[in-house]
Amino acid sequence: MTSEALSTLAADVAAAVSTPYVPPVQEPDVVAVAGFKGGVGKSRTAKELAAIFQAVLTDFEWDWGGVTRGWGYLEETRQKAPLLEAFRSGRTPKPLSGQGRKPDLIPGHTDFERNQPKAEVVAESLTRWSQELKRRLVVDTHPGGSESTYGAMAAARVTVVPVVLGDDELRALEGLLRTLTDYPLLLIPYKIGRSPAAWALDELERLAVEYKAHVGPAVSNYSWIPNRRTRTPICASPPSARTANFVSEMQAVAEAVDRYGR
Ligand SMILES: Nc1ncnc2c1ncn2[C@@H]1O[C@H](COP(=O)(O)OP(=O)(O)OP(=O)(O)O)[C@@H](O)[C@H]1O
Ligand SMILES: [Mg+2]
Repeated sequence: MTSEALSTLAADVAAAVSTPYVPPVQEPDVVAVAGFKGGVGKSRTAKELAAIFQAVLTDFEWDWGGVTRGWGYLEETRQKAPLLEAFRSGRTPKPLSGQGRKPDLIPGHTDFERNQPKAEVVAESLTRWSQELKRRLVVDTHPGGSESTYGAMAAARVTVVPVVLGDDELRALEGLLRTLTDYPLLLIPYKIGRSPAAWALDELERLAVEYKAHVGPAVSNYSWIPNRRTRTPICASPPSARTANFVSEMQAVAEAVDRYGR
């Protein structure tokens, strides 16, 4: 029922939003994951998409809750700060190898908040890194708007926005859509329960149509995900009885990302 209602919603939005902004295709490309609300699933989505695409996970978060520490990279044990160094020197960073178990990583840094360059520099750098590394980048961003987030979104062929169907979250989404008109956005209904409220579905549809954003496949709410302590992405291991549904939902998101604008 839930998935039916959401696929109908996505199809209705696609029919109404005939002319979303589509940037020129670049190969390889940059995919951003962003949102104005904290805790909605940006980092989980970025990590899983990077695993599915075998892309370089690029971390623009400066808090400890992001993908970098979750990957096992502890900045206090390291001499260098690859992200800060890359922007300081203008040189392309060398991703850390995940040894095929985890995505290769350009780690984030707590000092990035104070050291982030202007959006234009961030956008130009990400595009160049992707071309020089000959790899797709999946960029996880800090919650809210900041120069690095705007830069990542400017470089991205598509920005994935996980959307939790709550009142605060939908208001935050409207804030993002109003601020960032004409960006290529794919809204992913995220942490969806068995029966999402009709008002929330209506509001999502209204926002998507009004601001010309596409709605992609939904990802359900899984009570076991917050308790998961392994560093490998869920989609990097063979699906188990517990994970199979999440893996197939995330693969559907990855397909929608691939198809976006093509
Ligand atoms: N599909 C899901 N179902 C249930 N819980 C989830 C799901 N995806 C992520 N979570 C949990 O939700 C919380 C927030 O997820 P995550 O860190 O990915 O969000 P975020 O948007 O990156 O947060 P922040 O804004 O702080 O960067 C975490 O506890 C995470 O384990
Ligand atoms: Mg995060």
